[in-house]
Amino acid sequence: MDKIRIRGGRPLHGSIAVGGAKNAALPLMTASLLTDETLVLKNLPILADINTLCNLLLQHGVGIRMEGAGGDCAGRVVELTARDITNTTAPYDLVRKMRASVLVLGPLVARCGQARVSLPGGCAIGARPVDLHIKGLQAMGAEIELEGGYMVARAPNGLRGAEFVFPKVSVGATENLLMAATLAKGETKLINAAREPEVTDLAHCLVAMGADISGIGTDTLRIRGVERLHGATHRIVSDRIETGTYVMAAAITGGRLEITNTSIGLIQSAVTVLEQAGVEFSPTPDGMIVSRANGGLVGVDVMTEPFPGFPTDLQAQMMALMCTAKGAAMITETIFENRFMHAPELMRMGASITVHGASALVRGRERLTGAPVMATDLRASVSLVLAGLAAAGETIISRVYHLDRGYEQLEAKLAACGADIERLTDDD
Ligand code: UD1
Repeated sequence: MDKIRIRGGRPLHGSIAVGGAKNAALPLMTASLLTDETLVLKNLPILADINTLCNLLLQHGVGIRMEGAGGDCAGRVVELTARDITNTTAPYDLVRKMRASVLVLGPLVARCGQARVSLPGGCAIGARPVDLHIKGLQAMGAEIELEGGYMVARAPNGLRGAEFVFPKVSVGATENLLMAATLAKGETKLINAAREPEVTDLAHCLVAMGADISGIGTDTLRIRGVERLHGATHRIVSDRIETGTYVMAAAITGGRLEITNTSIGLIQSAVTVLEQAGVEFSPTPDGMIVSRANGGLVGVDVMTEPFPGFPTDLQAQMMALMCTAKGAAMITETIFENRFMHAPELMRMGASITVHGASALVRGRERLTGAPVMATDLRASVSLVLAGLAAAGETIISRVYHLDRGYEQLEAKLAACGADIERLTDDD
């Protein structure tokens, strides 16, 4: 299995282009199931998770044409055509690789009146149930039974509009129900819906496909079902988590980076916290310039929350940053249980972290030291990369396949800005 070797202590200087958001691309690709016409998506990131979803959509009968793969990051285009859906089963083998596969459930039931989608099972960051996806679709008239590890959904006469109040904010369940409601009979009202930029991006694309949606960007979405959707061309929103990760890379190494193909507005809550910690931002037409203030970093408290709050997907990176700040920082995770697996790995690099329930108290140290560490999930892995960039000596990170799920050309982008980072393959 591949490893990444980092020799730390070099400030990063240069420019990094951010790609399209993985978490927007995945639901947008499943939206292609809602129409027999072609959906064209631009700014597609090339990542392992995108390949997994392509394989799933292919076996549902979707025709996929990719242009510019391997080329310049801004130019990637995918064309998805679900003229005939030949299979409505999403098998365990594909769903277990990536939870977001459950996003085919809503579109398949809405278009075909049936779907059989494997339950995703547990994952490294907690139980992650799908009960809200199921309850929402049931409210819209689908009959759903659990059989042999699968959700078997039937709506032979089509879905009907309903009012559904999310007891808890869920990005995936909002996306599933939003897509399903576009083809339901009558009006659907989703209350306490997720407002993440990826949900908003999906809603805009659905409108371009002919859906009737109001309240986009708020926590109440009203969808008036239409007879059919048509093809459209849509540019995927930039990846705010990739943006925030490179912001923290500049901050933790004491460097200065220009980050392009993104915007400060996408990571406003993180910017507010990071400015308090001593990170400086200046907006540019295409993104931002970020550097660390002369006085160094200071500890700040952070709590993860649904958008517009601080994103849980930046929590691990923030913890790495706080490990080298002056003073203490309390980091509280409210979205997922068991999302501090990076803490013991950071401690192997000399960090001082005490985890108590949903909070971690980080006492900043002058310096981290390189060590062999293990990646446990996507965002935890990248927090170890950040720590390695700042640490004295050599850090070797194993199980880096997690990184390939969500970061395109991570080593190349960092190396181009002066990082000493290299992938070691099995042959090395
Ligand atoms: C999405 C993101 C993920 C991010 C998360 C929270 C994608 C592909 N992934 O995941 O990177 O960390 O949002 O911002 O977009 N929950 C339930 N029942 C459900 C669904 C969710 O209890 O049916 C709970 C979850 O266990 C979790 C919380 O709700 O505690 C939020 O999860 P959710 O927003 O659904 O996350 P995902 O959509 O899976």
